[in-house]
Amino acid sequence: MSHFITLEGGEGCGKSTQARLLYQRLKKLAVPVILIHEPGVTALGKRVTRLLKWSQDIKISPLAELLLFNVSRAQLVEEVIKPNLEQGINIICDRYSDSTTAYQGYGRRLDLQDVKKVNSIAMQGLVPELTILLDMPVGKGLERKNKIKPDRFQKQSQAFHERVREGFIELAVAEPERWLVIDATKSKETIAGIIWERVSKLVKK
Ligand code: TMP
Repeated sequence: MSHFITLEGGEGCGKSTQARLLYQRLKKLAVPVILIHEPGVTALGKRVTRLLKWSQDIKISPLAELLLFNVSRAQLVEEVIKPNLEQGINIICDRYSDSTTAYQGYGRRLDLQDVKKVNSIAMQGLVPELTILLDMPVGKGLERKNKIKPDRFQKQSQAFHERVREGFIELAVAEPERWLVIDATKSKETIAGIIWERVSKLVKK
């Protein structure tokens, strides 16, 4: 049986590093696995990502943003996630629909029920079995990010990012059996150990 694991968190929380470490560890054990990142991956997703992260001359409303992230997701589910899971390949996904709830729902303050509906259409029933939240104080995370070329999201206010953080925590509290919340200020090795403790049990099942 294949497993679908996602990593979530605010800017600079270190989830991409942890996703890579987990991927490498599973690969070493010859566990079939792929590592993907939202938004992006597919040809359509990459084009949409460029718009979402870097467009300066085009206005994107919060609702349009919600739909665009889900355009990328719908294609990713169809083209990559669904077929791989069906072939018994495990998936580690760096961000997924919970990012949309946190950023577009809590951050942009879109109606949470609307966000849930749109996400659910794009996900086509593929809910992660485990979601790892790397929780980090907003200021600390933003400090780690590229200040020379910040993207549209990194340019948002501290208050926006505080709402995103709060959103992730609320999601985790609402579904504790799916979420593993980790203090992202811990060392890289400690965090990797906590993640491995949980994931190794899952892959042994
Ligand atoms: P990243 O490549 O650094 O993870 O950048 C993706 C950015 O897009 C990050 O700031 C979070 C944001 N984002 C959303 O706002 N909604 C989403 O659904 C996803 C997947 C990402």
